[in-house]
Amino acid sequence: MAAAAEHVFPEIADLVTADVETRVRAIHEERWVTYPRAKEVLSKLERLFDYPPRSRMPCLLIVGRPGMGKTMLLERFCRQHSAVWDPDRNCERTPVLSMVMRPQPTIRRFYAQILSVLGVPVVSSASTIVMEDRIHRLIPKLGTKMLIADEIHNVFTASRGADRDALMALLRTMIGELQISLVCAGTNEAENAMLGDEQLASRYESLHLPAWTPTTEFQGLIGSAIRSMPLQLPSELNALAIRHMVEITQGVTARVFRVVADLAEEAILSGVEKIDSRAVLELPLAPRAAAA
Ligand SMILES: Nc1ncnc2c1ncn2[C@@H]1O[C@H](COP(=O)(O)OP(=O)(O)OP(=O)(O)O)[C@@H](O)[C@H]1O
Ligand SMILES: [Mg+2]
Repeated sequence: MAAAAEHVFPEIADLVTADVETRVRAIHEERWVTYPRAKEVLSKLERLFDYPPRSRMPCLLIVGRPGMGKTMLLERFCRQHSAVWDPDRNCERTPVLSMVMRPQPTIRRFYAQILSVLGVPVVSSASTIVMEDRIHRLIPKLGTKMLIADEIHNVFTASRGADRDALMALLRTMIGELQISLVCAGTNEAENAMLGDEQLASRYESLHLPAWTPTTEFQGLIGSAIRSMPLQLPSELNALAIRHMVEITQGVTARVFRVVADLAEEAILSGVEKIDSRAVLELPLAPRAAAA
């Protein structure tokens, strides 16, 4: 039996011996890669998920620039708490209700979106009160403990003032009445706007995903990103290459993964089969940084 490739993650090992076409396709598939800050955020989410119901539920706001990995984190968490069939009650349980706030949300659109996530058909003539009543009856039945609202900045940046205030008030009362926790993710603008809402500000904690700097943590992220690539040889990057990587990606997680994927593809197509410092240092600053 061939020795397992130790320079890649075990789940990639079988791919290492695949043909070029298969490996190049695999490079661009989305694969979760963990890093210390992600672990911290996920464990905070778990603690919040286990929080006992009470009228004043705590909230979390995950803050980061576009591409810092907010949605990937939320999706990872949701996968671990997906809806399941409860044979005892003969119904589905939806422990986490996850949605992406659309631009210019209104209360009506928000309710319609919740019902659509829950798979409940909405007739266009249904009144807002009927939709609200439906949601308030459904959520306890479904055992929902957490509401996740990604792209929460859409509430603040695009809505009319009146819609925005009404939605914020609704979120506050909804989590209180239904005793579910609220997790939002958004940009700095969302945090600034939520700080302005005294009642929300007093119950939520911000978790930041800051841009990467050339630390050992960043080195670890690059190492893990490379280990998730089906290359046949181990790669090694020196400190200079790591620093250059921060500069060309401006420390944005999405760009880091894209650069590593591009380098891995080049390494496979050229037959070099590894990523080395020279390949990284040859990458120009401006075009890569502009191309996120
Ligand atoms: N933990 C991770 N593992 C693997 N890839 C990741 C990870 N985090 C981020 N990425 C890469 O970065 C890309 C952007 O991540 P994501 O969509 O989560 O960012 P975001 O912060 O939600 O951005 P936006 O504010 O634009 O919605 C992903 O599509 C993926 O390619
Ligand atoms: Mg996102």
